[in-house]
Amino acid sequence: MQLVIVNGSPHGLDGNTGKLIRSFRSAAEEQGAAVETLNLSDYTVHPCRGCEVCSKTGTCVIDDDAPKLQQKFLAADGIVLASPNYMMNVSGQLKVFLDRIFSHVHCQTLYGKYGAALVTAAGPVFEGVEEYLMSIFGFLGCWKVGSIGAASLQLEDPDECSRMQGEAADLARRFVEAIKNGETFPDQEEKRSQVFEMMKMMVQAKQDAWAYEYRYWKTNWGIEEE
Ligand SMILES: Cc1cc2nc3c(=O)[nH]c(=O)nc-3n(C[C@H](O)[C@H](O)[C@H](O)COP(=O)(O)O)c2cc1C
Repeated sequence: MQLVIVNGSPHGLDGNTGKLIRSFRSAAEEQGAAVETLNLSDYTVHPCRGCEVCSKTGTCVIDDDAPKLQQKFLAADGIVLASPNYMMNVSGQLKVFLDRIFSHVHCQTLYGKYGAALVTAAGPVFEGVEEYLMSIFGFLGCWKVGSIGAASLQLEDPDECSRMQGEAADLARRFVEAIKNGETFPDQEEKRSQVFEMMKMMVQAKQDAWAYEYRYWKTNWGIEEE
């Protein structure tokens, strides 16, 4: 089982977000998962230009590390998005990367994979960011296993830090179990199929402009010819 952790913290694994990631990763590895951490600050990822060439041809016009990172996403069974709260959202590094997976939302390429999120913030204001990241998984067609948030004040206190790291480890164990068992989440099914149908309708409606995505749907999801 292959897991990918995408870390939007500019501090890599040395910051607060890294404290949760390290704990999540060790627990997942103990359960037998192979885990790769992608620290976005180690890669060059430019902002999306909104040209939609990826939708037309399947290839982004920007020459940077995003396509390589996307390949790791595609190969993983489970994806973890981790970020500090920056101005009530994810860090710019993570947001820029998420914009670059736009075409994978249209194609529902990651449908059926599993997602979890790890968030830190200065104070107890991580819930909105957790919700945002879980909504991204919903949009991608991934099963949402769970998320945790921690305040930097907690992570700087040794007892509180080990409690929060314990929560990260528990989430990792649940995550690996869900993937191993091919778990499904009945309460997520309706919303997930609504997103799937919406993407299908959009890609069908824009089949000339989004030629690559239309071909992808025909090949992989059995979209009907008009
Ligand atoms: C540019 C910037 C914006 C931030 N915005 C918020 C915020 O809106 N709310 C909050 O609670 N913390 C905010 N923080 C604090 C970070 O979320 C917090 O310190 C986090 O744990 C840092 O994680 P890291 O060490 O992994 O980078 C901000 C920090 C920075 C540098």
